[in-house]
Formats: sequence, C-alpha cells, structure tokens
Amino acid sequence: MACSLQTVFLPRGKFTTFSGNEFPRKMSHALPFPAESSGAIVCTMVSHETLTRGVVGLDSLITRRSPIKRLPLETEKKEEVCSGKFGKYGGKYVPEILMTCLKELESEFNLVLHDAEFQAELATALKDYVGRETPLYFAQRLTNHYKNSNGEGPEIYLKREDLNHGGAYKINNAIAQAMLAKRMGRKTIVAATGAGQHGVATAAACAKLDLECIILMGSLDMERQSSNVTLMKHLGAQVKFVDGNFKDANSQAFREWAGNLESYYFLSGSAVGPHPCPSMVREFQSVIGKETRKQAMEKWGGKPDVLVACVGSGSNALGLFHEFVKDEDVRLIGVEAAGLGLDSGRHSATLARGEVGVYHGAMSYLLQDEEGQIIGPHSIAVGLEDPGVSPELSFLKDTRRAEFYTATDQEALDAFQRVCRLEGIFPALEASHALAFLEKLCPSLPNGAKVVVNCSGRGDKDATTAFICKLQDSNGLVANA
Ligand SMILES: Cc1ncc(COP(=O)(O)O)c(C=O)c1O
Repeated sequence: MACSLQTVFLPRGKFTTFSGNEFPRKMSHALPFPAESSGAIVCTMVSHETLTRGVVGLDSLITRRSPIKRLPLETEKKEEVCSGKFGKYGGKYVPEILMTCLKELESEFNLVLHDAEFQAELATALKDYVGRETPLYFAQRLTNHYKNSNGEGPEIYLKREDLNHGGAYKINNAIAQAMLAKRMGRKTIVAATGAGQHGVATAAACAKLDLECIILMGSLDMERQSSNVTLMKHLGAQVKFVDGNFKDANSQAFREWAGNLESYYFLSGSAVGPHPCPSMVREFQSVIGKETRKQAMEKWGGKPDVLVACVGSGSNALGLFHEFVKDEDVRLIGVEAAGLGLDSGRHSATLARGEVGVYHGAMSYLLQDEEGQIIGPHSIAVGLEDPGVSPELSFLKDTRRAEFYTATDQEALDAFQRVCRLEGIFPALEASHALAFLEKLCPSLPNGAKVVVNCSGRGDKDATTAFICKLQDSNGLVANA
C-alpha cells in the first residue's frame, strides 16, 4: 500500500481512501491526532516493506549519535523487533506530520540496539539505579495454600518487579527511553500515566538525566492514585490534569507531542501506539523474562512451566513472555480485568471482549461499540484501564500462543489480601489480577509445576482503596460500585 494514501479507518474494519488533495478538506477537523470520540481515525497506511526497512536511507534524519561499537552475536537477532507488524496488528496509523518523527525514532532505536556504549550505560543504570536484577522469589506459604489434600500442587514463584526503584517494572523502559531521548537531543519528555507508576518512573528518569518532564494524567486517576501525583511533583515533573482517565491523558500527550515535534519526546509506557513504540517498550521490558530464564535455571535447573502476568496494555506481560515465546513448552497466561463482571459492561477485558480496530496509531483488539466508538474501560486497578491492548498480544491471542483469562475487582482484592497475609508482600492491584488467577489455575496443574507470576508493582498506591473496599465489603456493600 502506498505511503502517501490518506486513509480513514471506519468502524469494524472498513476503509475509505481519499486522494491527497481531497483528504484535508474532508477530514481536516480530525488532525493532528484525533480524539477517539471523533469516530474516525486518520491514518497513513505504511507498507510492510517501509516498516522493515530499518535504518537504510534514514541516516539523514538522525540528529546526533555516538559512534557505534557493534555488539556481537545475540543482538543480531534484534532486527526482528523492528518490523512493527505482528500479523495484521500494529503498524503506524498516524497523520503524515508524525511520520518523519517516528522514522527518526525507529532509526535511533535500531542504532542503540547495537550500540555497545548505550547498552553498557543502560546495563549500569538498570543495576545501580533501578536495582536489578529483581529476585525470583519462592512463595512458600502461597504454594502451601494451593496444595491439595494429598499435599500436592504447583510451586509458585514471584518475579519481584515491585522491588524496582519507584515500585514497579515501569522504570526499566522509562530510563532506557529517557536515555534515548537525551541522545536524540530532546529536552522535554511528555508522557501519560494512569496508575501513576509510569509517571513516577518517567519523572525519576528525567530528574536523573536533567530533562524537563510533563506528565498528563486523567483527573479521576489523579484522585485515585494521589500518592503517585505527589511523588511526581517531588521529582520535579509538571503534572497536568486532563478531563477523564488514562485514554484521555494519552490522547492529550499525543497532541502535545504533535505540537512540539522538534523539542519534545513522547515517552510511551505501554506496548501500544504506532511503531516503533510497541517494539521499543517490549524490548526494554524484556529484561524481566531474560532474568527469569537465568534464575529458573539457577534455582531448579530448567524453565518455568507457566508464566502469568496481568494485562492492561500488555507491557509487563510481554516483558516476561517475550523471552519464552519460542519455548512452546512454556505456557503464557495473561489476565485482564473483568471489573464488575464481563457481562456488566464495566471491565477492561480488551482481548476477551474486544474487537479489532485502530486506536492511538496501531491496529489491535479494542473495546468499542457498534459504531466503533471507544467504550470507557473500568477496573479497580487504574493501570489496567486501557480500551486498547498491545498489537503483539493481539497476535499471540489469534495464534493461540498465549492464553488470556480475566479476574474481577473482587477477585483481585481477595488476592491482594491473600498475598499480604501469606507472604508479607503488598502487590499492586494490577498485579493482584495475575495473582487472583492462581485460584483457578493451580488446581489444574500437576504436582511440582513451576509457576512464575509477574509481581509487576508494589501496592502502596492502592493500600487505601483496598482498605476502603474491605470496609465496604464487611458492611455488605459492593466494592468499587
Ligand atoms: C504496577 C502495574 N502493573 C501493571 C500495569 C499494566 O500495564 P501493562 O499491561 O502495560 O503492563 C500497570 C500500568 O500502569 C502498573 O502500574
């Protein structure tokens, strides 16, 4: 498909193509980055060839880069992370004005994958600043909890991403992209956050690297995750509120970026958005799975049998899964938020209940109505409230390489409580969804199966919410109604 075609994506997979002159008259109201409520997404179809071209022919777009010392072997296969398409999913459905910037980003990303100096700096930052590697912790009492009457059951391990600096896995990606932005000569970082963990991670990385930081956050989320708002401000970020929630904040972040392409860098915290954002976030989070493989080998001399992670947009799940996608004997399980129940209409189960469409620059499963309008997601875990999802996870669903299930608000709250009491660990409510699924999973597994759950973050931010819900529950009220 030609790069110059201006295409409007209409609900349920219908496309309308305009000629170059006709297009702006008809759709100029939707530029530069349409709000999802406009009902039509302006996009530029990019051929697969264009997306896989890598750095060839793009050198002139690069503002600044250090001489490359090539890393041997392992990094060669990283070319594959740069295709931007996962089956029919992914792509770059953006207005023409963003294309140059995205190509520049793609080019720089491809370079740093092979740049020994960048990789060494990143490794040092992950070790000394972020605090990696994070432990693969054997949860003895949780394991006992799932033993059957014969004393048999799986072994539960937690990948302790909650122990990272800032309290979540988000910093793995934030520090890497902030380094990339600095290398590209950008001075200001703009990012959107829901639960505030990506906001805190980005603000911290910006402080460390002396970058201006603007965080967009939905007004509702600012109330629900106020402790993270305070932290972001302490870290020197300008926190701007946006009417609504994460999807609205993300739309606004795109608009701010589109208005300041020369000096701003949009730091995506989710494995969504136009290429190269999903590949980049996944790549910088893949340290989780790489460590898990090594630690599993050290602890029991083999691979995990099952990996479990919560799914909001999919970045912590992909961070854990990616390393094992080719190991067919390792089950990959993503757990979405069923909120108040899948049939209540108030959930965030995009893969379980969504349909394919284009949103925020990429094709994936989406929560949308009959008209193709985005349906507002709901979860007690703010970080799972995303109407879209990673294109790569969409592909893993279709190919059945990964399995996806759901957990309700109440099941997540119960899991939060259980892990607090049994292990002395307070997981984020997002991670509690993955932990909740153990109730259904464990009875079906053979004795001694090794299960690794990604404990994606710490639950300080959720302590009050969990406490209020517990009080309401003990008074016979519905949690988070
Ligand atoms: C602690 C934590 N876990 C999980 C998520 C879900 O995001 P994703 O599915 O991209 O990993 C979030 C999002 O904010 C989060 O803060």
